[in-house]
Amino acid sequence: MENERLITSRMMPEDRDNEYSLRPKTLREYVGQESVKESLKIYIKAALQRRDALDHTLLYGPPGLGKTTLACIIAAEMGQNIRITSGPAIERPGDLASILTNLSHGDMLFIDEIHRLSRAVEEVLYPAMEDFAIDLMIGKGPTARSMRLDLPRFTLIGATTRAGQLSAPLRDRFGITYRLQLYSTEELAQIISRSSAILGMEADIEGISEIARRSRGTPRVANRMLKRVRDFAQIKGDGKITHDIACAGLDMLEVDSLGLDGVDRNLLLTMIDKFSGGPVGLDTLAASTGEDAITIEDVYEPYLLQLGFIQRTPRGRVATNLAYKHLGKTPPESATDKNDQNKQTSFFDEYI
Ligand SMILES: Nc1ncnc2c1ncn2[C@@H]1O[C@H](COP(=O)(O)OP(=O)(O)O)[C@@H](O)[C@H]1O
Ligand SMILES: [Mg+2]
Repeated sequence: MENERLITSRMMPEDRDNEYSLRPKTLREYVGQESVKESLKIYIKAALQRRDALDHTLLYGPPGLGKTTLACIIAAEMGQNIRITSGPAIERPGDLASILTNLSHGDMLFIDEIHRLSRAVEEVLYPAMEDFAIDLMIGKGPTARSMRLDLPRFTLIGATTRAGQLSAPLRDRFGITYRLQLYSTEELAQIISRSSAILGMEADIEGISEIARRSRGTPRVANRMLKRVRDFAQIKGDGKITHDIACAGLDMLEVDSLGLDGVDRNLLLTMIDKFSGGPVGLDTLAASTGEDAITIEDVYEPYLLQLGFIQRTPRGRVATNLAYKHLGKTPPESATDKNDQNKQTSFFDEYI
């Protein structure tokens, strides 16, 4: 089960314990995503100078990269309240109408997993975003009439792992759109170092770097691994997180030197052994590995793509020579040619 796994970048109950203390509260504390921060600073400053609300903002990217964190920071930097809800939580148009009519001037409304809003709820959102108004139906049957109700000027912040699933009219109503990127090892090391200080752990730079290297570009995974390694250090060592302790702790969790776990390896081995390296379609891969197609796409692929272990081609996924080598397999003679022949669609093209 994906939920029981260490590397899953989705939220797990244990994350909640320190979630609040580890979450950066200001843009200064928010590590990485430099171009996003740079442009946000400008928009926030300009809006504050004009005493205006910020444009509606869409944040997208794989789970655990800091979308919720950034939404809260935007509200804090604007000096506004944030109201947090999610696509699946807003079941009926009336639910959204009541949230909207309860907002105050300048409020931020954060809708997580915004791609999961139903079409009927989305319809309410369009005039709300564009004209700051909603149309309410009064009465029933032939005497029913619609009444327009003005809303306070608010800012919608949407977050999604799947921007491609947003309807075009919704996507077009966001003035600002950012795609969050996987973090570099250096950035993850900064995050781990900050977290270990907050949690009062003793950790040396080599230990921190090792955890960073294995956290698959994802801050949530980095913080989680740090906590597991701390437990290991306490029981098997003298409590200090060193390189050896980090390696031993993460090896025991079957997370390899690049952060791949059993499921990643199974995905790659299935592609290599059952499909001669591919191309293999997502659904076929899901069926042969017993993993969920959406989970493969959202959670595993972004990192495997970043490592250059797989490529997406119009005909499906292909395992690269790098993947063969990492798994100690000999790439087939033709593997390179095969990869070259299939024009690679970039991650971005397919992701949006
Ligand atoms: N840029 C960052 N700098 C420092 N810590 C971060 C950053 N982004 C995320 N985190 C950490 O990772 C955790 C998960 O981030 P979150 O915002 O919940 O991700 P998402 O909403 O994209 O799934 C946060 O609680 C925070 O501790
Ligand atoms: Mg989130």
